[in-house]
Amino acid sequence: MTSLHNRHIKPLIFAGLTGDNWGLEEYVKRGGYASLKRILSEGMTPDQVIAEVKASTLRGRGGAGFPSGLKWSFMPKNFAGQKYLVCNSDEGEPGTFKDRDILRYNPHSVIEGMTIAAYAMGVSVGYNYIHGEIFAEYDRFEEALEQARAAGFLGDNILGSAHSFQLHAFHGFGAYICGEETALLESLEGKKGQPRFKPPFPASYGLYGKPTTINNTETFAAVPFIFQVGAEAYAALGKPNNGGTKIFSVSGDVERPGNYEIPLGTPFAELLKLAGGVRGGKKLKAVIPGGSSVPVVKGDLMMATDMDYDSVAKAGSMLGSGAVIVMDETRCMVKALLRLSYFYFEESCGQCTPCREGTGWLYRMVHRIENGQGRPEDIDMLNSVADNIQGRTICALGDAAAMPVRAMIQQFREEFVYHIEHKHCLVPAYI
Ligand SMILES: Cc1cc2nc3c(=O)[nH]c(=O)nc-3n(C[C@H](O)[C@H](O)[C@H](O)COP(=O)(O)O)c2cc1C
Ligand code: SF4
Repeated sequence: MTSLHNRHIKPLIFAGLTGDNWGLEEYVKRGGYASLKRILSEGMTPDQVIAEVKASTLRGRGGAGFPSGLKWSFMPKNFAGQKYLVCNSDEGEPGTFKDRDILRYNPHSVIEGMTIAAYAMGVSVGYNYIHGEIFAEYDRFEEALEQARAAGFLGDNILGSAHSFQLHAFHGFGAYICGEETALLESLEGKKGQPRFKPPFPASYGLYGKPTTINNTETFAAVPFIFQVGAEAYAALGKPNNGGTKIFSVSGDVERPGNYEIPLGTPFAELLKLAGGVRGGKKLKAVIPGGSSVPVVKGDLMMATDMDYDSVAKAGSMLGSGAVIVMDETRCMVKALLRLSYFYFEESCGQCTPCREGTGWLYRMVHRIENGQGRPEDIDMLNSVADNIQGRTICALGDAAAMPVRAMIQQFREEFVYHIEHKHCLVPAYI
């Protein structure tokens, strides 16, 4: 298993995990289900629970960083019909591999977090949509659900209270687009996983057209700890408006790739140190700090940046899902962009023209530059195509395809020019 190596930084979700202590008994020994018990036995009202989550400054860990307590407050309170709660364990973004570790090593934290959320929003049915290409984690989550039901933490009248919550696991279809919340809902309904127009947002028109709240796996997993340590203490772990810990999936050119749970606001330099530094002692060239869809940041700037939503935004990028892709001085940015643009071309669901056609154009242009057939006008054309995708599509996959292109050209234009002029890579020339 991959987890935190530094004893000075205390993780929450990954605390005390050994790889084989994922079960209910061990979770309870670690303080698990105490938050749910306390909420139900002390008679905390749903509004009080939402107020605590707001005070914790927890922000959604799925990509956009939207304040979770605020999202929960959007659920209609007095809706007469069925409302739904959905966990997004689709995790398909290149570089992101944290949610599968949570499901595998601490599944009860997700179940407890969802049960608390369901109580706060008056929801009695929930689903966890798990990426279709991961099997062991799906089986593990099913097993954990069985354990929770048998112990009375799920089902009818949980722990003798009036709160009932039926939670089910759903194995998805392995498409990146099914991670987009409305495509996920379509897929959960048994339809083709294609995003819906927003508005209406899921809180008013969600699963089967009913009010629905969707959060990321890590978001739900964090909830029990907010009530264990207290909302203020949780918030104080991070920076203002960036509360708590965050799991970063560090990959690429580092000595020890893996998942690292650290307080939000920890300097990137410290995270890099935890991951063993740049592999082979090479120089840091660039970092994609939040998954493949966010703008690349030059190494020097990243070394002066803290890992929280606001600081990474100031550096011109986004914290996204927390997937940190580290690139050393030997990496060719044209080649890196080729890999990224192929991914978005391949994963576009095809509903809107700018995304369906534009992602193909981007890929083909980067492909010809990389293969020594680039034309001088290609760089401006890449920017122009990206401009014509961004903000003109049904869902954010279009933006996700366009942003890396613009950022790569802005930060590393000389490499694109060199490729076009010399018909090969600039990188070997300076290592
Ligand atoms: C193309 C695309 C893919 C996405 N994939 C995921 C994903 O795999 N997991 C996830 O939690 N959110 C993903 N999101 C974001 C979700 O739409 C949604 O914002 C998120 O699940 C909300 O949870 P949060 O508020 O806890 O972050 C994706 C968004 C887009 C546009
Ligand atoms: S932006 Fe792309 S992925 Fe999103 S709905 Fe349009 S075609 Fe589909």
